[in-house]
Amino acid sequence: MAQRIDVKDVNIYYGDFLAVEGVTMTIDPRSVTAFIGPSGCGKSTFLRTLNRMHEVIPGARVDGSVELEGVDLYGDDVDPVAVRRTVGMVFQRPNPFPTMSIRDNVLAGVKLNNRRISKSDADDLVESSLRGANLWNEVKDRLDRPGSGLSGGQQQRLCIARAIAVKPQVLLMDEPCSALDPISTLAIEDLIQELKKEYTIVIVTHNMQQAARVSDRTAFFNIAGTGKPGRLIEMNDTATIFSSPAEKATEDYVSGRFG
Ligand SMILES: Nc1ncnc2c1ncn2[C@@H]1O[C@H](COP(=O)(O)OP(=O)(O)O)[C@@H](O)[C@H]1O
Ligand SMILES: [Mg+2]
Repeated sequence: MAQRIDVKDVNIYYGDFLAVEGVTMTIDPRSVTAFIGPSGCGKSTFLRTLNRMHEVIPGARVDGSVELEGVDLYGDDVDPVAVRRTVGMVFQRPNPFPTMSIRDNVLAGVKLNNRRISKSDADDLVESSLRGANLWNEVKDRLDRPGSGLSGGQQQRLCIARAIAVKPQVLLMDEPCSALDPISTLAIEDLIQELKKEYTIVIVTHNMQQAARVSDRTAFFNIAGTGKPGRLIEMNDTATIFSSPAEKATEDYVSGRFG
């Protein structure tokens, strides 16, 4: 299921503002890639170009190419809705639909995609998605209660269940633990280790220890100054980025001298 992503010469704009410039990188399947860098360097912006979510902002555009197993996601005949189904996303704040039941939250993405599904198939999908998100045992007796009744960490795992219910190939996560306590954070990190067996995972994190713990490869982004575009400075195996990066800026950032 997991697929490889090849990004070539990507420039990302908000109107006339060039927010991210000249990114070329490869993201490996069945692995976790972390994006790190100071606030405002374009990590979220770049992440959203990987599933065509950037362009929903008026005036926003992308040039360059983003290929998933060799198919350009920005090709003329590609449906952005299909791209977002294949490349799922989990956000910073857990955002379950508050009045919807846990069960309906898991099925929300599937129903949005107009897939007709029988009651028993739906039951199976709810269970497998919640199991996949390490949440089943905690909620199996209260599937009809509202998603908003769960703790923050459970809500984030519910959002992960909702994302995997549509059977994506890639999961993008934008600071998925930043609103969570340390125990919930560890639960999500454990889950990410499980999920990478099946998915290509990209995680934005401002937490260096988290990048070091969960990721196989790390990409460091930086900006030269306010109003300047963010750039990919360096990408390598996570151990190399943290122990012997090629660039001084990377070393300063990972050692906490900056950012
Ligand atoms: N919706 C938007 N409209 C205009 N500019 C934006 C928007 N979102 C982000 N930006 C700008 O793009 C740059 C990168 O932001 P962002 O991707 O959020 O950085 P990061 O996630 O690394 O903190 C910043 O200068 C930010 O102000
Ligand atoms: Mg961000």
